[in-house]
Amino acid sequence: MLLFQSMLHELWHAARALLHPHLKTADLQRHISHAAVAVVPIRALAERHRKAVLSHLLELPPEDRYLRFGYAAQDAQIQTYAEGLDFAKDQVFGIFDRRLRLIAVAHLAYSQDSHAETCAELGVSVLPHARSRGLGSKLFARAQVHATNDRISLMFIHALSDNSAMLKIARRAGALVERQGSESDAYLRLPAPSMHTRVSEMVDDQIADTDYRLKVQAKQFWEILADVQEVRRLAQDAQTKVSP
Ligand SMILES: CC(C)(COP(=O)(O)OP(=O)(O)OC[C@H]1O[C@@H](n2cnc3c(N)ncnc32)[C@H](O)[C@@H]1OP(=O)(O)O)[C@@H](O)C(=O)NCCC(=O)NCCS
Repeated sequence: MLLFQSMLHELWHAARALLHPHLKTADLQRHISHAAVAVVPIRALAERHRKAVLSHLLELPPEDRYLRFGYAAQDAQIQTYAEGLDFAKDQVFGIFDRRLRLIAVAHLAYSQDSHAETCAELGVSVLPHARSRGLGSKLFARAQVHATNDRISLMFIHALSDNSAMLKIARRAGALVERQGSESDAYLRLPAPSMHTRVSEMVDDQIADTDYRLKVQAKQFWEILADVQEVRRLAQDAQTKVSP
């Protein structure tokens, strides 16, 4: 898996170098924030992932639910939220671990208001065991590029003022943070889409698809192996019982 990740990393850089031979890493960093440089496959989620998103959110402990939703969301409220996700209109991104468990999710919700149709709100969650490894920053950067390509001009994040991790991610991406007591809003102005943002997203999608397919195959392989071992164990047990 490590070898595969390093291959993906190389592929990512090679693809960008081919299309932008003049673009150095420092320029990329300025364009789409430093977090996108190290490759973490981030998959655009669809209807079939709704249950996985729900399971991910239900795994968040109470304090994280408060940070994510701005209130102490109960299971039923999270279920209503997950059932209401509009995968056709909004964009949901996820990071899967090797067992295909969603360990991080970002929901880019497009404004329903016709006067603010170029605005979108981002909500992010990373399971506690996977934190401080840059996944939150990478999801932010991924959503930033996608929103740019979708001609969103303003991405905003609503966070509690003591949510240092989220506000750090937003500030680092260049967002303006406005504090109103215990709550804060971070506003990030986005540029017009460019060849670079479009190619960047295409490459990221390809990498995430390949990574996901490989994880599915690996999971199937281990499941088959476990079945074979179980059959062998049962056969051995049966033989032991028959043998004098
Ligand atoms: C906010 C959240 C998404 C960050 O995810 P993450 O994967 O840990 O983020 P990163 O690893 O990219 O960390 C971002 C920065 O915050 C820092 N950070 C992480 N946890 C921190 C904490 N508790 N206090 C202060 N800084 C923290 C990291 O060190 C990192 O800074 P660095 O790059 O200079 O080291 C995650 O903590 C989370 O899911 N929280 C619960 C839900 C939530 O608050 N959502 C945001 C509101 S929508």
